[in-house]
Amino acid sequence: MKIGVFDSGIGGLTVVKSLLEHKLFEEIIYFGDTARVPYGIKDKNTIIRYAIEAVEFFKNFDLDMIIVACNTVSAYALKEMRDSAKCPVVGVVEAGVQATTNSLEDKNSNILILATKATINSKAYENLLREKNYNNLEAKATGLFVPLVEEEIYNGEILEATFKHYFKDIKKPDAIILGCTHFPLISKALSSYFNGTKLIHSGEAIVQELEKNFTFSKKYNDTKLQFFASENPTALNNIAKKWL
Ligand code: DGL
Repeated sequence: MKIGVFDSGIGGLTVVKSLLEHKLFEEIIYFGDTARVPYGIKDKNTIIRYAIEAVEFFKNFDLDMIIVACNTVSAYALKEMRDSAKCPVVGVVEAGVQATTNSLEDKNSNILILATKATINSKAYENLLREKNYNNLEAKATGLFVPLVEEEIYNGEILEATFKHYFKDIKKPDAIILGCTHFPLISKALSSYFNGTKLIHSGEAIVQELEKNFTFSKKYNDTKLQFFASENPTALNNIAKKWL
């Protein structure tokens, strides 16, 4: 199986990490649109246009599947990507919702959704959760975490200050959906701030979804990786070495 993983930038590497840990694929072609990140503050039409361009890029490879690691793209452009791709396109939002409901039997559980402004405005997570009768939801755009993670700030004073800023009125939820590629990198800090609340990670969620919906007859210990970026591929390669 040869797949493409698409993200607005470097954040999707957190999803690649999960895919590698579960040894699902023989080859992964990663494309990060580093020249145009962040997508999380852009409008719907722009996000769709960029996403279709990514599908065009992936047509250079003979892919079996495209995984959209970016929550913002998954929230807005999955249908359009599916319409123009020649292979299945899988997003992280449905997978994240499924992983959340699998881990919370009680439909009255309090769920906090953290994501970019665009993802929160789309209500993609909220709508799917409400369809499944989970209605105790709080959604919070926490876009400042994105540049902090890109600065490799995963803990410490600055991050704590942003937690206080965003979460001052928020009580400990039963689960937090990390609805943005970058947020798994601050999961330790979030978990200690919220005193052990359950965290839902897109990468792990997509692995669960894939294993449920597709047959994987073989484990790949030595997945071939190729990284492409619309700007500064060297920086992407360096961060990939560090994160993966
Ligand atoms: N990859 C984006 C997401 O998961 C976060 C970064 C951005 O705003 O582009 O929503």
